[in-house]
Amino acid sequence: MAPIDPHSFTDSSDPPTSHIALTLYLDFPSSTINATALFTLHTPHTGPFSLDTRGLTIHSVHTPQTQTQAPIPFTLSPPHPISGSHLTLTLSNHTSFLITYTTSPSSSALQWLLPPQTFAKSHPFVYTQCQAIHARSVFPCQDTPAVRIRYSALLNIPSHLSAVMAARHVDRRPPRNDDVATALWCSQGRVVEEFLMDQPVPPYLFAFAVGGLGNREVGPRTRVYAEDVPEVLDSAAAEFAGTEEMIREGERLFGPYEWERFDLLVLPPSFPYGGMENPRMVFLTPTVVKGDATGAQVVAHELAHSWTGNLITNKTNEHFWLNEGFTTYAERRIVEAVQGEQRATLNIGIGWRGLNEDVERFKDNLEFTKLKNNQEGIDPDDVYSQVPYEKGFQFLWRIERQVGRPAFDEFLKKYIDTFKFKSIDTETFIDFLKANIPDIENQIDLVLWTEGTGIPPDAYEPDSSSYKMIVSLANEFINGRMPREDEVADWQGQEWELYLDNLPKSIEASQIIALDSRYKLSESKDYEVKVSFLQRAISCGCKDYYNEVEKTLKGVGRMKYLRPLYTALVKGSGKEDDKVFAKRLFSEARECYHPIAQGVVEAIFAKHL
Ligand code: BES
Ligand code: ZN
Repeated sequence: MAPIDPHSFTDSSDPPTSHIALTLYLDFPSSTINATALFTLHTPHTGPFSLDTRGLTIHSVHTPQTQTQAPIPFTLSPPHPISGSHLTLTLSNHTSFLITYTTSPSSSALQWLLPPQTFAKSHPFVYTQCQAIHARSVFPCQDTPAVRIRYSALLNIPSHLSAVMAARHVDRRPPRNDDVATALWCSQGRVVEEFLMDQPVPPYLFAFAVGGLGNREVGPRTRVYAEDVPEVLDSAAAEFAGTEEMIREGERLFGPYEWERFDLLVLPPSFPYGGMENPRMVFLTPTVVKGDATGAQVVAHELAHSWTGNLITNKTNEHFWLNEGFTTYAERRIVEAVQGEQRATLNIGIGWRGLNEDVERFKDNLEFTKLKNNQEGIDPDDVYSQVPYEKGFQFLWRIERQVGRPAFDEFLKKYIDTFKFKSIDTETFIDFLKANIPDIENQIDLVLWTEGTGIPPDAYEPDSSSYKMIVSLANEFINGRMPREDEVADWQGQEWELYLDNLPKSIEASQIIALDSRYKLSESKDYEVKVSFLQRAISCGCKDYYNEVEKTLKGVGRMKYLRPLYTALVKGSGKEDDKVFAKRLFSEARECYHPIAQGVVEAIFAKHL
């Protein structure tokens, strides 16, 4: 009896789940789901069997088809603040059992939106975000990426809405009395959408969304879904027109695309991430639809997860860099192939800056500057940073430089082919590296890279001419020298982002205002630019933009924007009225944020107030 993952109650002596059949009756008025989950285990089991849950009310556990016979005994522990409640069943040679349960209106994975919170304002909307450890708030499960499951799902929803899932769509049909348990609930004005996921996936990749959805075809295996509003669908379709070319590049670099379809779903603005790599159906923030290169970059990232993350998965969150570091590397290879080397180098430069900032942010908590780290007692949402992405990227780029690109490409393909549909840890990767690239441990300090703190001396700041030009222009701002119109004529959002990120810390409010009156950065349609600028403005005590800050924090729920703005307000300026302002904004905007984002903002307040 031993846990296999610091974030899960899953026990090493329990058989893994092989399949879960879910029936989900979505009740919008109460923001809850009435559900059944039919489990199949790999082998029969007798004795205690552990599952993760959070906020679930468990009504009963039975042997399937025998609801009249003796139920299976269970206990549910009081909630642990990070892991939730431990559900323990007492099994007697069972391979299968049926759990009947209801989710909580505050389920940490689900955001229920009222019609006014959507773009079209006419239909409600609900969606999941299960990574890192929120699947357990939608269905009981062994919620560790070490256990891969197949599943089926019947979503019983109001018939004026439609559903999408990170799974194969099988049917949309009227409810039937033999749908397990849906017979218990009202079937008038309802419809059932059926899905199948027959490839084994970690639970964090479970995903659905339900709302007034429409779609447009953008490629042979890609449709883009969004709220059924022509402008929204048309601009999304235009933004993602190049997707098929990226999938082909991915296949050339990393091997066959194993998931059949690659559809995209553009969510309402409260979606807490830029993108989420749900298999077959990537979830995206609407802030990436703006008609420049960055939309494609986020898609390249989530697409790259189809190989690194979804095929090869980190065994626990302590090895998260195996997902995100590899994906950041793979994303930049795709971007380089379709948008050119300059664009890829610019991304490396923005990443380098982010890595240095986050290493600085963790200077009192060096554990989280390590690639492989100890997350005992740690909520993964609290330690989310650029370290696994950018230090992981730097490590792989270092290996590429050592062995040369052709050899590294061959190695990557073999790595993916060897471990696909498996969940692995850092040691497994290092052993495979040593076995396939002889003597590598004498050329690169692998232990320093994977277990050491901070940034190793052989990490590498990119040195392309346009990257260096932008950084040196930013440094010259100290003498009041602003970039000239001819110097910025071809700048897109990412160039401005890099410029703003590299501005000296000591600039004054008057200089910030001068920069903005010339280049209108505070009004940029590009949230990366706007937020970088507003963060700067807050930190140097410049109040002119607080209206814009308020609009931004009330208009989007992407944590990449909430974190720096709230942090700058409560910590950056150190002024009491900024804290009062931040608190008021949060109390007014809170309801519009996804529960994960609410938790992250609350953690910022708890730390700094
Ligand atoms: N898998 C992540 C999002 C994530 C990480 C969700 C950890 C929950 C916990 C996704 O692939 C990602 O990295 N998104 C980035 C996109 C960017 C790197 C292009 C984001 O949301 O900013
Ligand atoms: Zn990612």
